[in-house]
Amino acid sequence: MRLVLLGPPGAGKGTHAQVLSKEFGVAHVSTGDMLREALKAATPLGLKAKATMEKGLLVPDDVVIALVRERLSGPDAKKGFILDGFPRTPEQARSLDATLRDLDMPLSLVLYFKTSLPVIIRRLSGRRVCGACGKNYHLLNFKPKAEGICDACGGKLVQRPDDREETIENRLKVYEAETTPLIDYYQKLKLLTQVSGDLEVRELNRDLLDVFRRKGLLGPGVKDPQRA
Ligand code: AP5
Repeated sequence: MRLVLLGPPGAGKGTHAQVLSKEFGVAHVSTGDMLREALKAATPLGLKAKATMEKGLLVPDDVVIALVRERLSGPDAKKGFILDGFPRTPEQARSLDATLRDLDMPLSLVLYFKTSLPVIIRRLSGRRVCGACGKNYHLLNFKPKAEGICDACGGKLVQRPDDREETIENRLKVYEAETTPLIDYYQKLKLLTQVSGDLEVRELNRDLLDVFRRKGLLGPGVKDPQRA
């Protein structure tokens, strides 16, 4: 299974990529997480990306393309992968095509999480993440057991700097201008399937499994988690 999750900020790409990668034993490749890890480790890449990310703008294509190429060439991507937050520009999409051609690993499917504006705003403004391990929560939907504390590691929950109101607006503008052309791009390649990002996690997960069944992606190599 080799997937791209496409959709606006807050559509649930990260949430579902995490669930699906566990269910199917494939790599979760999130450029946002990779950049945040680089930032936390204060690597030259992280320090360079910091201001761009905090403004809600895109990190240069060549930087993320190199990150993804290296990750997809690694051993864990051989079993399959879920790309979350990449590609985000036509240039990134073309380069992904070339990388996957070189690696002889064609995409199975691109899932477009079509999501309405009020849902996006609610999700992003209520999101909290663990400052230590990065686990995601939501003030209304996914509350931790103890307020402000991560269930997994006891770390303190914080708001992502780019989830502030003024930055959310920027991210949405960038998404419209840079990323929405990819809907057409993948439609023309007959790889795109649209699902509703507005659905609750369980409902959307059920729809995604239906899509995989319809597309024949739950073959012998990939177990159907509902029947396992
Ligand atoms: P990135 O981290 O990729 O941010 P994003 O694409 O804006 O996506 P989000 O993480 O905000 O949303 P999501 O769709 O993953 O939603 P989530 O599941 O978390 O990128 C950050 C920055 O890095 C970019 O702005 C850019 O600067 C840089 N960058 C990254 N990739 C790049 C690239 N390829 N090129 C250039 N620059 C790049 O859910 C959100 C909240 O809603 C959570 O609280 C969650 O618990 C809740 N939730 C999720 N799904 C549901 C549901 N179905 N029902 C109820 N609640 C839900």
